[in-house]
Amino acid sequence: MTEQRVILEARGINKSFPGVKALDNVDLFIKAGEVHCLAGENGAGKSTLIEILGGTYQMDSGELLLNNQIINLQNPKHAQELGIAVLHQELPILRDLTVAENLFLGRQPRSRFGLVDYRKMYKDAKKWLDIISADINPRTILGRLSVSKQQLVSIAKSISLEAQIIILDEPSAVLTDVELKRLFAIIASLKAEGKGIIYISHRLEEIFEIGDQVTVLRNGKLVGSEPIQNLNRADLVKMLVGHEVLESYIANQSIDKNRTPVFEVNGLNHGHLVRNINLKVSSGEIFGIYGLVGSGRTELARAIIGADRINSGQIILDKKKVCIKSPADAIGYGICLVPEDRKGQGLLLEKSISENISLPSLKSLKGKLLLNYGKISKYSDEYMKKLRIIASDSGQTVKYLSGGNQQKVVLAKWIGMNLRVFIFDEPTRGIDVGAKEEIRNLIRDLARDKKSIIFISSEIPEILSIADRIGIMHEGRMIAILDRSDATKEKLVAYSMGGIAV
Ligand SMILES: Nc1ncnc2c1ncn2[C@@H]1O[C@H](COP(=O)(O)OP(=O)(O)OP(=O)(O)O)[C@@H](O)[C@H]1O
Ligand SMILES: [Mg+2]
Repeated sequence: MTEQRVILEARGINKSFPGVKALDNVDLFIKAGEVHCLAGENGAGKSTLIEILGGTYQMDSGELLLNNQIINLQNPKHAQELGIAVLHQELPILRDLTVAENLFLGRQPRSRFGLVDYRKMYKDAKKWLDIISADINPRTILGRLSVSKQQLVSIAKSISLEAQIIILDEPSAVLTDVELKRLFAIIASLKAEGKGIIYISHRLEEIFEIGDQVTVLRNGKLVGSEPIQNLNRADLVKMLVGHEVLESYIANQSIDKNRTPVFEVNGLNHGHLVRNINLKVSSGEIFGIYGLVGSGRTELARAIIGADRINSGQIILDKKKVCIKSPADAIGYGICLVPEDRKGQGLLLEKSISENISLPSLKSLKGKLLLNYGKISKYSDEYMKKLRIIASDSGQTVKYLSGGNQQKVVLAKWIGMNLRVFIFDEPTRGIDVGAKEEIRNLIRDLARDKKSIIFISSEIPEILSIADRIGIMHEGRMIAILDRSDATKEKLVAYSMGGIAV
């Protein structure tokens, strides 16, 4: 095999933010025709590195070389012109403009008279959307699309830029399974064209599926860079977290032996994605719900806590029917939903970690009359430590935390409340393998405290490692409920596709 050409080279990159060294002497080499995965724990510096490559952040020191020439990136537009396209973790897009306007922002096709040529713009936009088989009308206002469709628009945009380097920051955190498969096909064709692709993900299966090379960062430092074929899963985990991680099932000793249901859902219906759902959870039990993205899991969770109005059905707590009309009612009964979307729901980005964590629990943290600030900071420090939230201190604004650490703040906020029924919707999405294990342990602790837990996940190894029973959803129906001991990967896959178990 001939040696592949290096397109982009980063040498000795340093970058500090107030109170944190986000990158410490990091090197990276991207070759033509390579999918280069960038991995590392939450807060390791991955996004910071790609923001530097994309011209958004200026490095403190170091060198960038594009095709062996030193470059000094001035801003994102400059990077784009040089052929470096970045798909951001948090999409910096203009929600009020149309899809086409977003695609051609700052480079709209012009007519002879210098005016924007809208017809051509919509036509070209359609062309790029078709190339990635995205069924999206270029005239739609971007903000009206689902997050995953918005991500597809960004993908079409980076392809339309005909970039040499395409950087994707955790696309699988927002795409549906079908969209992700399509993205992988797009990545394969970009690779065949000799582009360099940088792919960030916390999902190890993905890294092994599409990666050629993986570079691992930890605490802003380079741990190593290896061809994927030289590594197995355990090797990679060790590079990522620095120690081995237990991913196997830990038997739950805390389930009520008689399995008396504490929490029941009877004949719940809402729209076409929640159809006649029945389930029972006893005290100390972890009930998993598996299903493909779009099978109705989130809709079910929302219907239970009254976020969406139900058409029919009952929620029963301690054998008594309860009337839940809003999430506040649900919390009143001790039932909460920890949502998957950290940005849309549940985080006050401008406020500190400690305010976010302690807000819902304020009642119990109040002194006789005044807020007890000592108590609040002790409380939030404790949860920061438990969840290993990486930040300078609990006074740091949540906005500046890495994506995964924001997710941990959402979790800390809910776990700290003394409730009885916890519904977790994809609680470990976007979270690194080490912290995933810690989050599973926290959920196991809740079970030990006799809470009833519903755990929604689309990751099979994860659900098998934590759930006592697993309900599988397909097109709004719960088509099977399996005991942990009966559940296998093959069965979960077969049921989730609506098929018969193997
Ligand atoms: N604008 C900023 N101001 C202050 N600190 C920042 C800023 N951006 C990032 N940081 C800090 O730099 C460190 C690296 O963050 P970065 O977002 O690069 O992590 P990451 O590897 O992408 O993590 P994740 O997997 O959670 O997305 C973190 O400690 C983060 O809090
Ligand atoms: Mg990141």
